[in-house]
Amino acid sequence: KLQPLIDKLHENHILSATEYVELLEQRNPEDTEFMRKLAQEEAQKVFGNRIYVRGLIEFSNYCRNDCLYCGIRRSNAKADRYRLTKEEILACCRAGYGFGFRTFVLQSGEDMGFSAETICDIVKSIRTEFPDCAITLSVGERSRESYEAFYRAGAERYLLRHETASEALYEKLHPKELTLANRMRCLRDLKDIGFQVGAGFMVGAPGQTVEHLAQDFLYLAELKPHMIGIGPFIHHQDTPFRDCPDGTLEMTLYCLSILRLMFPNVLLPATTALGTIDPRGRELGVEAGANVIMPSLSPKEVRGKYLLYDGKICTGEEAAECHACLENRMKYIGYQIVTDRGDYPGWTRE
Ligand code: 5AD
Repeated sequence: KLQPLIDKLHENHILSATEYVELLEQRNPEDTEFMRKLAQEEAQKVFGNRIYVRGLIEFSNYCRNDCLYCGIRRSNAKADRYRLTKEEILACCRAGYGFGFRTFVLQSGEDMGFSAETICDIVKSIRTEFPDCAITLSVGERSRESYEAFYRAGAERYLLRHETASEALYEKLHPKELTLANRMRCLRDLKDIGFQVGAGFMVGAPGQTVEHLAQDFLYLAELKPHMIGIGPFIHHQDTPFRDCPDGTLEMTLYCLSILRLMFPNVLLPATTALGTIDPRGRELGVEAGANVIMPSLSPKEVRGKYLLYDGKICTGEEAAECHACLENRMKYIGYQIVTDRGDYPGWTRE
């Protein structure tokens, strides 16, 4: 019964808020499978059976923020804090380069122990040693001037999830010093500067309704990001949301398919959180329209410390094991991990 709506989404790449709500509320196994197939086809039209791989380097878990859902929030005194040095980060890149990775994602909490200058210095060193690689930053909210400096230093992508496009829900998930307006300002600045920009949200965040998800889709339609990161909310035992139910595999996959139909060219990862709520989560994500995976390149000693949620997979593995494992998993479902920067189709540095 949702087929007409799904066809409309497939053709127009957009629906109204009430139509998104209907699509989400009336979901059922038959229509889900119908949309999943269309989304997988759409991804294959653009990317074939190629999966882009991004080496994730979680270089600090210090964070000035206190997001209620996140395990590395500042008031979690149990978090075992660490920072990697520039040399340690470069060593991660060298290992990743050897596996064929041509994108490095430098992610951290909002750690002001890394000044804009320090981050620029790290970016420049990576840029010099690996001129054929893309550098993605994911270090949170900073000033426009800092973002400009990052871009000049050689970074070309930036991940910053908007978390929710609803002002009301944003306030329930975050302490009052964080605002949706500033988050959106950051995303707008990043796009203006020329970055390939990634936004996104958690599926099943505490208090999230289908109306909120509809708002997320409409916000993304307006922003037109190059990348969209979504994954299920997963509780963390040392946060205020410890007793909240996790997001579901089924809803996350459904949202991935919607996003693929909305944005045929978008870089859409099957995230670690998706792999955490189901052992085949990432494979199912690819089959629902995702085309990117982001294995960790972080040193084994710190992997178990970058814990945004409970049960995170691959915390005891070496980077090489993770890479081999994912390569096999992708092969098994008929996909191939490629050695490619995997830029957004048509993107060039201005
Ligand atoms: N469960 C799932 N995802 C989370 N994130 C943070 N905490 C959690 C959690 N408990 C996501 C946020 C953030 C990204 C880095 O990780 O969306 O933007």
